[in-house]
Amino acid sequence: MIYEPSDDTYLLMDSLPADASGMAVLEVGTGSGVIAEEIAKRGASFVLATDIDFEAAVSAKSRGLEVVVADLLSELNEKALFDLVLFNPPYLPSSPESDSLAWTGGVGGWELSFKFLAQAKKHLRPGGRMLMVLSSLTSQRILDACAGLGLAFKRRASTDLFYERLCVYEFRDQSKVSPKHL
Ligand SMILES: C[S@@+](CC[C@H](N)C(=O)[O-])C[C@H]1O[C@@H](n2cnc3c(N)ncnc32)[C@H](O)[C@@H]1O
Repeated sequence: MIYEPSDDTYLLMDSLPADASGMAVLEVGTGSGVIAEEIAKRGASFVLATDIDFEAAVSAKSRGLEVVVADLLSELNEKALFDLVLFNPPYLPSSPESDSLAWTGGVGGWELSFKFLAQAKKHLRPGGRMLMVLSSLTSQRILDACAGLGLAFKRRASTDLFYERLCVYEFRDQSKVSPKHL
């Protein structure tokens, strides 16, 4: 299933750097590919997109993007390092009525985001960062886990919807942060 760009998509898009010149960027869970396409237009020198859904990967590929069908970053070589890693994850708790990979992030809704942070931090260049969408429905559990992962975080954008607050958070690996990045 190809996720139709929505409020969360545009919140993340609005948080992208205006000038991505020279950056190596990975977008996990690219869906239709609009975010990866946008960061390429902003000058990124290398953009790679992944999605677990084959149909979504085909859609993103049609935008001229490099796309890998993969579960999070599992197919990446350990030497693949990025300046920026993006993820607008599925974050709703799964249930028998709703188990689409486009929406649900695990039994509690937070598990996939947590797994992403643990994997993606290993693929950051020094000074690199991740931008991820979090919902107030599941964000506290994820943010609480950051200390254990050695991640520092800052809220970069937010929007209030009918039943939740959506935020974009920036995450950095504390062991790769120098004072000039703070
Ligand atoms: C909320 S949609 C976001 C799509 C797009 N990035 C956007 O912002 O419009 C989440 C995307 O993550 C993908 N996804 C779900 N589980 C995944 C996993 N384990 N690895 C990679 N992609 C995954 C889904 O197929 C879906 O395309």
